[in-house]
Amino acid sequence: MRIIALALVLAACSEAPPPGDDPRASPGDASRVALGAKVYGQHCMSCHGAKLEGQPNWQQRMPNGRMPAPPHDESGHTWHHPDGVLFVIVKQGLVPPYAPRGYASDMPAFSDKLTDDEIWSVLAYIKGHWKTKELLDARAEMTRNASQR
Ligand code: HEC
Repeated sequence: MRIIALALVLAACSEAPPPGDDPRASPGDASRVALGAKVYGQHCMSCHGAKLEGQPNWQQRMPNGRMPAPPHDESGHTWHHPDGVLFVIVKQGLVPPYAPRGYASDMPAFSDKLTDDEIWSVLAYIKGHWKTKELLDARAEMTRNASQR
């Protein structure tokens, strides 16, 4: 009896999407990833890099006081955020609640340039670059609490 109950719990766990992950940003969805690659090339690559590597010295503030574009590959911190947070950042730009009021940033808001579907797709494309088990485990751990709010 106890064994059956445990098996059910395990099955339920493996079917649930990892915490912080939205099915609309699934890197396993080939058509979304293809659309996302196109969107990335047209709207993100000029700043975030052809290989998602970000701008040089991305952790150092520029002379104008703004931050350079960070990488979206495993070396950056994009993966620290749940999908829902990334979606809002891309749609609205770095404004409250994810940046202080009046925060000056080169990251544009894409609400008038991209559809919601295109934004989820570019996130699917970006997430397709996160492959290491350690990173995926750390992300699930980090986003677990955030996704429950
Ligand atoms: C004009 C340059 C530019 C373009 C184009 C651009 N970004 Fe950015 N992006 C930035 C900069 C600069 C930052 C960091 C801003 C800061 O910290 O002040 C940033 C930050 C971000 C962040 C937050 C990362 C984090 O870890 O907090 C995400 C997500 C993001 N960009 C996604 C995108 C996506 C997706 C696109 C294309 C649809 C895009 N960006 C296009 C410059 C750009």
